[in-house]
Order: sequence, then structure tokens, then C-alpha cells
Amino acid sequence: MAHPEAVDAVILVGGRGTRLRPLTVNTPKPMLPTANAPFLKHLLARIKSAGITHVVMGTSYRAEVFEEYFGDGSDMGLEIEYVVEEEALGTGGAIRNVYDKLRADTVMVFNGDVLASTDLTAVLDTHENTGADLTMHLVRVSDPRAYGCVPTDANGNVTEFLEKTEDPPTDQINAGCYVFRRELIEEIPAGRVVSVERETFPQVLKEGRKVAGHVDTAYWRDMGRPDDFVHGSADLVRGVAYSPLLEGRTGEAIVDESAGIAGGVLLLGGTSVGRGCEIGAGARIDGSVIFDGCTIEPGAQIRDSIIAAGASIGANARIADCVIGEGASIGARCELMGGMRIWPGVQIPDTGVRFSADA
Ligand code: GDD
Ligand code: MG
Repeated sequence: MAHPEAVDAVILVGGRGTRLRPLTVNTPKPMLPTANAPFLKHLLARIKSAGITHVVMGTSYRAEVFEEYFGDGSDMGLEIEYVVEEEALGTGGAIRNVYDKLRADTVMVFNGDVLASTDLTAVLDTHENTGADLTMHLVRVSDPRAYGCVPTDANGNVTEFLEKTEDPPTDQINAGCYVFRRELIEEIPAGRVVSVERETFPQVLKEGRKVAGHVDTAYWRDMGRPDDFVHGSADLVRGVAYSPLLEGRTGEAIVDESAGIAGGVLLLGGTSVGRGCEIGAGARIDGSVIFDGCTIEPGAQIRDSIIAAGASIGANARIADCVIGEGASIGARCELMGGMRIWPGVQIPDTGVRFSADA
């Protein structure tokens, strides 16, 4: 049996979140609201409920935002420490950079943008039972090209690590959660950029170390692209993906108690509505993430979209599969479809015109 109290957690949260721009212009990806809490808070709650309490965050881009929000972690029953990279060191460099903060011999490392329902103690059990130097959580996906492809042998040992390859030999991929023996982290070169995926893992395999795969079929999603972000948030709200923060509160929608919702409004498909939003009569919002302080005028229809803080959507506008930046304003009767991204503060007048990124 694993002893999670003797495990340190490390969370990598230093990426720039480029694929989620403009949402990440001011806010680092792990701090974006999902089901009305910063994404990272759901991950921290899972770590806590697995029995791990010491957490070290490797930060870089917008580093200050994390500590301002989570502080020393005591509100969550955790002890959180922060290590800032002045220049981003890459995933491997970030792991090496937190080495001095580690206390336990077993270190569980998380990519900070993965939504999963995996039983973390089961991953730790695999690590302990196999006696591996390194254990990787692996999942199967329909298109492995955007991930690290990780074949295993008949005994479940990892045989190769192929980051983002056009011709993946298997649909089994790196789920972005690893258990390291602490000594292995010390061996990563310090003070320079290192990719754990492109440099450390291939090196460890070449040296013939034992690398175990922990494969499961629990919910898993990388939140790095707008469509994954919006569907991941909706899955949390609906309870399809598990978060201890939402226990007993899952359903069609989650609405902050300070939001004003007029009569006849339909909130469906895992929609979340943040603090201080105003939603006008007859609006219909399906599968969408509405950040704090947004105004949605009467009759607007929003589907599978992200509306960032302080944005306003005019009466009878239609928005589908879009990202609307902070404080942007979309005029009445406008139609925005097919992956449009509106930059913060942009104002689209009441034209009733149809815009589509697909067109
Ligand atoms: N501290 C720090 N410094 N963190 C970083 C850095 C860095 O230089 N670069 C990236 N990160 C963090 C990101 O914030 C994110 O939480 C995590 O590391 C992974 O980076 P992504 O940019 O999201 O990588 P990816 O999604 O393309 O690929 C990774 O995740 C996949 C699973 O979601 C790889 O690990 C793939 O192999 C994996 O399949
Ligand atoms: Mg990612």
C-alpha cells in the first residue's frame, strides 16, 4: 500500500498557455475559472483527498498570481511552496528546480493543466509494487499525435517515449502525471532548459532504468485548447469528471450565488456562471463557461463558448464555439460562430452581422 503522507507533490504551472490566448494574456492557464473555481484548485483538492499534503509549485509565467490566490495552502489543509523560474526552464528544468524543496523519497509530479478522475493512490501503488525508478500515468486517446506517445511491453514497462510524433506506434499516451524516485530528479541537469519529455525520459530509458506504466480508463483531458477547456469545465459541472470541490453540487449548471438570473433563462449542459454576472430574460446558455462580472442581455444564445471576465453579450446575439476576451462587448443580434476569438476590450457594434472563423 502506498503511504501518500510520505509523498511530495510537484505541480508544473509555468507554461504560457499560448493555445488558450487571449484568455491567458493576463491569467495563467491553471488559474482560469472552471466550474467556478480556478482549474488548479480542483487538482489541489484531488491531491489533498489522496492524502498528500506537501505541494511545491514550479511557476514562471505570471508567477505571482498563484501565491496571491493560494498563499501557504493552509485554507485547503495543504502546505504549498512556490519556486519561480525567472526564465522558463521547460518541464524537466522546472522539476529539477524544485529539488531543494523536496523532503520525501517519492515525488508525484503533475502537469498543471490535466483534468482527470484517476485514483492517485492507485498510481502510487503501481510505483511501489513494481519497484520502478519512475512510474508514468498513461491513457489511451483517439488521436495521440498531440501528446507523448508511450508504448509499454507485456509487463507494463515503458519501452519508448516519443513526444508529439506524427506517426505514433500506439494510441497510449503520457497523461502528464509521474512518480519519481527523488534521486532521479537530482540527476536532471540543473540551471538550464530541459524538456522532461524530449530529453529526460528518453535518457532514463536508454540507461535501462525501470519505468513502469500505470494505465487506466478513468476520465482524462488536457485543458490546453479552447474546445477541451470548455468541455472539461462542463464535465466537471455535470459530474462526468470528478472534483472533490463539487461534491453534491453537480448538475446542468453551477451559478455563483451573487449572479442575477432573470426569468425564463435556460442554463444547460454544464454551464457555469461566475460572480456578479447578470443574465437577461430568455437567454439560453449551453455548455459554456461564463467568468465573473459578465452581462448577457435578454434573448442571447451562447453555446460551447468561453466568456471572459467583464465581457458583455448583446440582446439576441448568438455565440457558438467562441472565446470572448476580457471586457469585450458583442453587439445585439451579432452572430459569432466556429472558433472565433475576440481579443480583450474589442467592441463589436450592434450590426446583426454574422462572423465565423470557419468562413
Ligand atoms: N514551471 C514550468 N516551466 N512549467 C512548465 C514549463 C516551464 O518551462 N513549460 C510547461 N510547463 C507546464 C505547463 O504549465 C503545463 O501545466 C505542463 O507543464 C505541460 O505543458 P503543456 O504546454 O500543457 O504541454 P502539452 O500539453 O503540449 O504536453 C504535455 O502534456 C501532455 C498531457 O497533457 C506533455 O507532457 C505530453 O507528453 C503529454 O502527453
Ligand atoms: Mg497541456
